[in-house]
Amino acid sequence: MEIPASSPILLFDSGLGGLSVLSALRKTLPEAPVIYAADTAGLPYGEKSEAEIAARVAGLLGRMSERYDPRLICIACNTASTIALGMVRDVLHVPIVGTVPAIKPAAALTKTGTIGLLGTAATIRQRYVDDLEAQFAQDKRLIRHAAPELVGAAEAKLRGQVPDAGVFDRAIAGMKAKADGAEIDTVVLACTHFPLVQAELAAQMAAGVQFIDGSDGIARRIASLTQGQSFERNRADQAVVTGAVDEHLAEALAPYGIGGVSRF
Ligand code: DGL
Repeated sequence: MEIPASSPILLFDSGLGGLSVLSALRKTLPEAPVIYAADTAGLPYGEKSEAEIAARVAGLLGRMSERYDPRLICIACNTASTIALGMVRDVLHVPIVGTVPAIKPAAALTKTGTIGLLGTAATIRQRYVDDLEAQFAQDKRLIRHAAPELVGAAEAKLRGQVPDAGVFDRAIAGMKAKADGAEIDTVVLACTHFPLVQAELAAQMAAGVQFIDGSDGIARRIASLTQGQSFERNRADQAVVTGAVDEHLAEALAPYGIGGVSRF
């Protein structure tokens, strides 16, 4: 059955982090209609248990899939993907693209063999990350560091506030203080919120340290899975959120081409 040209791609995150993926998607598929969905009532996922995250993500994506009938769902959240991707794929009959830490490309880039990985507390403890490390970085050192404060800092920045500079310093200093941390030459931003504050993080590291995230790879994957499909946006893209809607949220979304936001 042919997919209607107006059928959306649903991008899902706990908050505004998925906008880093949306930016990459816009460059690759500028005509694709998008629904940006954020579980803002559940933010931050990184401090929740696996069971709670899995239940929220599976429940919400099931309901959103029924309501919006998307052609594809992208879980634009490392925490949700590393915990619930397999489960969501088992229950929904729509292609699901996940966002997982970019350990493979980082392993190809590092010269010192030491990679830093910044993520949420829930992401860095996942078996999914152990498996990526075993598969792609067995001969490297992967230094995992939880930086939960960066989620709030990215949310604040996008809402037009100035995040406390100490947050960036603490995240980088904490990672570098771990064994071999001084050798890090490549940092994986393993949370979709973190590329939104990459400049602030880079200012805390030596020049030449590379930051890498999965957004371009995800956009390419979505393009490949939708190859041959037609796209037509017949109204401005919309966002739906599970929490409160205010004007700061609408202002944060507008630069990403989102013309309206409502409560899911
Ligand atoms: N953006 C999410 C991620 O990629 C996590 C933010 C949160 O803690 O909710 O992991």
